[in-house]
Amino acid sequence: MPPGGALVGAAMPFDPSELRKVMGLFATGVTVITTRDQAAKPYGLTANAVTSLSLTPPLLLICVDRKAETFPHFFDSRIFVLNILAEDQEDLSRRFATTGGDKFAGLEYRLGRLDTPVLEGTLGYVECRIIETLEGGDHVIHIGEVEHAEVARAGRPLVFFRGRYRQLSRE
Ligand SMILES: Cc1cc2nc3c(=O)[nH]c(=O)nc-3n(C[C@H](O)[C@H](O)[C@H](O)COP(=O)(O)O)c2cc1C
Repeated sequence: MPPGGALVGAAMPFDPSELRKVMGLFATGVTVITTRDQAAKPYGLTANAVTSLSLTPPLLLICVDRKAETFPHFFDSRIFVLNILAEDQEDLSRRFATTGGDKFAGLEYRLGRLDTPVLEGTLGYVECRIIETLEGGDHVIHIGEVEHAEVARAGRPLVFFRGRYRQLSRE
């Protein structure tokens, strides 16, 4: 028995909103992950549960909610593009964080090397092929092998902290 007598690892009921509050202290950048279906129709969602996983080989991971409308389309194409938003792209983040409608209507984008949307005005982007998908509770974890990555422009990132959009006060 550890000091204090508590059993380590004992199952305890846990309030998910408390986890959201605590993890909201972990400041992140903001991305829009785009993908496409087999008919090349574009889809995308705002995401911050993303990370660089490995440099050799170059791998990224993204976490996607099973309830997202975009969810099935990652399985259609097994491709995604991670678009890293700049501080003046909060509107874009809100657009892609809202389910329903055509998120690409009136939007500036081009198709990248994997025929998947690369958004304009971002700081940079990474094009990936999904090589593995893991279970992650109410999300799945897609591991993407990097096919191409590019810094698009200089500038500051959009930041998400404690449930709100922020800007870096200094670099
Ligand atoms: C800052 C921020 C980060 C988010 N991160 C993720 C994420 O990593 N994974 C995810 O599945 N949803 C994430 N979301 C929620 C999705 O963007 C949201 O559920 C969106 O409506 C899904 O769109 P869809 O249903 O059209 O696919 C995030 C939202 C915000 C505002």
